[in-house]
Amino acid sequence: MHYMTTAEIREKYLRFFEEKGCKRMASSSLVPDDPSLLLTSAGMVQFKPYFLQQKHLDAPFIGATTAQKCVRTNDIDLIGTDGRHLSFFEMMGNFSFGAYFKKEMCAWALEFSTKVLELPIERLYFTVFEDDDETIEIWKDLGVAEDHISRMGEEDNFWRAGPTGPCGPCSELYYDQGVEVGCGDPDCAPGCDCDRFLEYWNCVFTQYDAQEDGSLVPLPKKNIDTGMGLERIAAIMQGVQSNFDTDVLRGLVAVGEKLSGRVYGSDDAVDKSLRIMADHTRSVAFMVADGILPSNEGRGYVLRRLIRRAVMKGHLLGIEGSFLGHYIEEIVKVMGDQYHELQENRELIDRVVDSEEARFGATLHQGRAYLSQALDEMDGTVLSGETAFTLHDTYGFPFEVTADICAEEQVTVDKAAFDRCMDQQRDRARRATAHDADAAWSTYDGSMSAILEAVGATEFIGYDHDDADVCVRALLHDGERVDVLNAGEAGGVICDKTPFYAEMGGEIGDIGTMMGSDAQLTVTDTKAPEKGLVVHHVTVTSGAIHVGDGVRAIVDAPRRARIRRNHSATHILHWALRQVLGDHVRQAGSYVAPDRLRFDFTHFESVTRDQICAVEGLANRKIMENHTVTTYETGLDEARASGVTALFGEKYGDRVRVVDMDGFSRELCGGMHVAQTSEIGLIKITSESSVGANVRRIEAVTSFDALAYVNRIETELRNTADVLRVPLFDVDERTAASLDQLKDLQTKMKRNKRVAVAGDLARVLDKVTFTAHDGYPIVIMRSDGVDAGGLRNLWDIIRPRLTSAGACVLAGDNNGTPLIMAAGSDEAVAAGFHAGSIIKSISSCIKGGGGGKPTMAQAGGKSVEGIDAALEQAKKMLL
Ligand code: ALA
Repeated sequence: MHYMTTAEIREKYLRFFEEKGCKRMASSSLVPDDPSLLLTSAGMVQFKPYFLQQKHLDAPFIGATTAQKCVRTNDIDLIGTDGRHLSFFEMMGNFSFGAYFKKEMCAWALEFSTKVLELPIERLYFTVFEDDDETIEIWKDLGVAEDHISRMGEEDNFWRAGPTGPCGPCSELYYDQGVEVGCGDPDCAPGCDCDRFLEYWNCVFTQYDAQEDGSLVPLPKKNIDTGMGLERIAAIMQGVQSNFDTDVLRGLVAVGEKLSGRVYGSDDAVDKSLRIMADHTRSVAFMVADGILPSNEGRGYVLRRLIRRAVMKGHLLGIEGSFLGHYIEEIVKVMGDQYHELQENRELIDRVVDSEEARFGATLHQGRAYLSQALDEMDGTVLSGETAFTLHDTYGFPFEVTADICAEEQVTVDKAAFDRCMDQQRDRARRATAHDADAAWSTYDGSMSAILEAVGATEFIGYDHDDADVCVRALLHDGERVDVLNAGEAGGVICDKTPFYAEMGGEIGDIGTMMGSDAQLTVTDTKAPEKGLVVHHVTVTSGAIHVGDGVRAIVDAPRRARIRRNHSATHILHWALRQVLGDHVRQAGSYVAPDRLRFDFTHFESVTRDQICAVEGLANRKIMENHTVTTYETGLDEARASGVTALFGEKYGDRVRVVDMDGFSRELCGGMHVAQTSEIGLIKITSESSVGANVRRIEAVTSFDALAYVNRIETELRNTADVLRVPLFDVDERTAASLDQLKDLQTKMKRNKRVAVAGDLARVLDKVTFTAHDGYPIVIMRSDGVDAGGLRNLWDIIRPRLTSAGACVLAGDNNGTPLIMAAGSDEAVAAGFHAGSIIKSISSCIKGGGGGKPTMAQAGGKSVEGIDAALEQAKKMLL
């Protein structure tokens, strides 16, 4: 066998299975098109519909082959502790949907291992599911020695992607790395925890569809799903025992070495940190490239945990400042050719990582200090779950981060108590939002999918029609299906087809009317509670409507025209934002109503006024150029390949609708649009703000609403110009000049007041200057209407006017708050004066507290009635 790079192995594998008749397909996104999974964790995820025979390969292919990017975090604690576990890895797969099965698969796995990779058969071991005699025979027929085949139970040799879905028994291939690598136990065999037998290939014979109740329903056909761990086979082919010593990952470990000045292989704890950083940053780069952003839930939280754990490990190695960007650079360099999304989203990845690092960096030191103190003060070896929760909630420490730091001190964390705190917090949050959930639409309590099954999907004909004759298929009222809705009643109407657009993709639902032969209905909203099922929310204004009635459905067309303009405007703004801010801008949400629109997008700092103007200018240029907007249907893969903008995380069917604005903007979208951009008339952006980490929001108005907005600004400006008595366009200059004048006047007034006070002071000073029993001059005086700073200023004025260095005690009523102050020169202090202790003793008179240094002390209180008493007491103490 020869040394092979990771890239070579990947290519050889794909080519091998292509030659066997498989279609080479792209890795699917890490965001699975499958609500039962958080992240794509295996090659088979994108093929679930094929196993279920809902989708089919085109002829002449007999199967599919992929290099699939995968993220798994269930073993996160093990990552870094050995050379095998990774959170991100590439799975080389080949898949059959009824075309080839065990016999071919085993023969090809062996052929690829021994002929292409040239692994010696003596080093290969095979496991099969306990009662799978057939596979044992197959391996034996292929020339595998009997003592290299063993049976394993359900835990090892029955594979599932999750609790439900396609699954089946499997057979695994192991490579013997040699006795010297292992535990030395004479019984050591495949399945042992040590590193000797490395499992590198899993062949699943996918025959069942696991149901929610745990039962296994046989699939219509017998399938193959295999996964070969690319990093593991690379380790074998490169003659190293750890994934982290292979070409790709060793380069990442080296990034950490360079940053920290530590050498890999010299210290276990350091090695572990270097491995974790190398591993986690790969997951991070790929997750962001697939549109996942850090957040506090779901996959966004997985991403946040990985980033924070990597940052913390770097911090513990003594790396100063932000450093994840160095890893990203290396990852894009070595993996960008195979995974173009890394190159295309480079800017996005850098920005997300930088801003998340900065956010965490801001609380990291405080959190560390809090944890150190908790560790110092605790008894025993278990940190309380409450402390871990505070670290999570206040300082943003994911549980693993706290656990990692504690582990270094031989301390464990009470996970159960931490989970309880998290549950309580979730309950609180749920209670807070329960009200909103209750307010959600409740026309029907039963299952909408049952209705969909009973009455069929609603055909949407609204792209070409504002009104149409339709037939009522079902009626909903008070949580139930009914046969009739009478005058005065509100409910839901489901028809065979409809011109009404149901709220979707940010676009609000249509409103309008329905007229039957004997009934008139107002449609107040339109929703699609189940994909394909449109429910019109109606109030019957007269007559009665029955299931089976024919009605004329009429959309409020002027309102819809406004919605069209706003929806097309969001596409133009999306394009313009990317022009001005960069390609990292991605739509993160939108709301399209008749009177306004909202567009949320990924960006990492506030957008400047100039940038907003530039975006608005570009958008209006596109409107005035009057581009033609066309829509067409195409296949999802074709659309993606031609560079149409799709939304991250959005689920699209196989056939998609493209909204194309003369090619400058092309987006997958099912919404309502104008035919020519000039119909939008004008766009005005009315606000820009932040709506969470890394997501900004702009709000805008178009056409008549934009005009109304501009008119309103003009009216306000005219009114201001009238008040200032200046021409319209001199308002800002005049306002600035007036403000300057005002400031000047205020400064002069303050100065005059000081001069006046100083003059008054000279007159009163001799009346309130006493001689302290220690011999220095002291002013004891009441001064009302002065704040704390004013009292200190007074001392500055008094001080030079005293014949020799002295002291003062001042007190007064500042708008209902009593304030007292004492101050003394160094000479007075040397003679025995102590401002702090005087204030301490007299502040009780004003029901207050305070203190300070010997030279200066102040206090506030609650009782202005006690001011004179305080001054009297000071006299008693000092004179
Ligand atoms: N789906 C199988 C696995 O992930 C091949 O191991």
